[in-house]
Order: sequence, then C-alpha cells, then structure tokens
Amino acid sequence: MQTLTTLEELRAARAKLRGTFGLVPTMGYLHVGHLSLAQRAKKECDHVGASIFVNPTQFGPTEDLAKYPRDLPRDLALLENAGVDLVWTPSPEIVYPRDFQTYVTVENVTKPLEGARRPGHFRGVTTVVAKLFNALTPDKAYFGQKDAQQVVVIKQMTRDLNFPVEIIVCPTVRESDGLALSSRNVYLNAEQRIAATVLYRALCAAKELYERGERDGSKLRAVMSELIAREPSAQLDYVSAADRETLAELERIERGALLSLAVRFGATRLIDNFVLE
Ligand code: PAF
Repeated sequence: MQTLTTLEELRAARAKLRGTFGLVPTMGYLHVGHLSLAQRAKKECDHVGASIFVNPTQFGPTEDLAKYPRDLPRDLALLENAGVDLVWTPSPEIVYPRDFQTYVTVENVTKPLEGARRPGHFRGVTTVVAKLFNALTPDKAYFGQKDAQQVVVIKQMTRDLNFPVEIIVCPTVRESDGLALSSRNVYLNAEQRIAATVLYRALCAAKELYERGERDGSKLRAVMSELIAREPSAQLDYVSAADRETLAELERIERGALLSLAVRFGATRLIDNFVLE
C-alpha cells in the first residue's frame, strides 16, 4: 500500500493505476464501518484508495476539531490489511493553502436537520469531497448510510457538478446492542455508552409503529421523542420523519421516509437513522 502526502505524489501514483478505482473518503480513527466500505470497494473495483483527513472546514467553532480522535499508524495498518492500494493523508495546508477562497455549496437539502444545527458543516463536507474527487478521480466513491443527510447532499453535488463518480451507499454497521459505529463513540463514558442505545431503540419503536400501519409523521416523531425523554442522560437535539430525497418533514408518509435523530450525551452528539421503504 502506498501512503502519499502531497498532491503531486498522489497524482503520480494514481496515474499509474489502470482499471476502475474506488475511493473511501474518511477522517480516520477507522472502525469496522469504514472497513466495510473498503471491502465493498475491493469487490467492485480494480483498485481502492482511501483518504484520511480531519477536515477543519466541516467543524463549527465550538465543535470537536481539536480533540477529534486520531491514530494514523493504526489506520494505515487497518487499510493495508483491507487490501487498499493507496492512501492520501494530506495536511490541512495542502488541502487549504493560504489564500484558499473557493467553496462548494449545495442549497436546499443542506438546510434542515444537521444543516440547521451545524451551520457551514455541509459546505465543508462538499468542498472537501469535491477536492477529493478532483485529486483522486474515482469511478465510485463509498459512503456510509449512517450519515444519511451527507449522502443526500453528496449525491446532489455529484449530479449538479457532473462529477463522473458513482456514489455507493453502504449499510450502517452496528454494535450488538444496536449502537451505530462512530468514531465519536469513544467520547462516551460507561453510563453514557449504555444510554446511547436509546437512538436505536427509538428508531426501532418508530419503525414498528410504521409497520403496524401508522402513516402520521408526527406520531412517529412523538414515539421517538418520548423514548429519548425517558433516558436521563440523553438530551434530544431533533427527531425527524422526512422525505428521503428532499428531507422535508412529512405529515403523512405515502412513499417511505427517512427517520433520523440527533441526541446529546454530555458534550457528545450522536446521530442515527433508518430508511422506511
Ligand atoms: O463522513 C466523513 O467521514 C466525512 O464527512 C468525509 C466524507 C470524509 C468528508 O470529510
């Protein structure tokens, strides 16, 4: 596996690879969810590349950029073991040189949910993903369903800017008790870790109601909010039952929905979602 830092090194290494190329963009501190993206890419592409870059522009001023967990040697060993061909680990100065002033902004689908609570977050995500697509020129790029709105936003950007990249969405990987894998789970203390299963339990309760025939979006939101309210260490940020494409809240669910929620445990904010077909 080649580990590359500068854009010039990366471009030279990428130019030598013939055949289809799959990209797994990451911010490092890899878990089984990331590795499932690399495994899927291995099955579908001749070569696989990954990026490890904690992207400063997608963190708000009060968010966890400085303490975001990092372990590059471990990440590189995991990617090598997963059969990844090359990894790009640029510094912030390489991605955002002095005088950087061009950003990619997706309009409507970035406004609700995460976008409403994390101003500028998706502008940072789409800017860095556009730069990764330009630098690595993948045929396919792999993202986790865990970040449901991110997937909608990246698909929109890819269509709007005519990137010749197929976006592949892979299922959320969960712990045995249902907690979705996330690099931020390491912030939870033992008590919060137990309480954090409430996200999964709330989604299961709403899905069960839907499967029993409930089509009123506000009832699905209410069942999720009630479960979160019963968990003393959990503080609800939002619950949503929204259209899967526009992400607008639904009063009646006619053609499926995206159930999603964000919950805080102390300073740690977790998100999760289910797709109702
Ligand atoms: O999902 C992530 O880890 C990040 O948002 C991404 C897509 C790597 C962009 O920094």
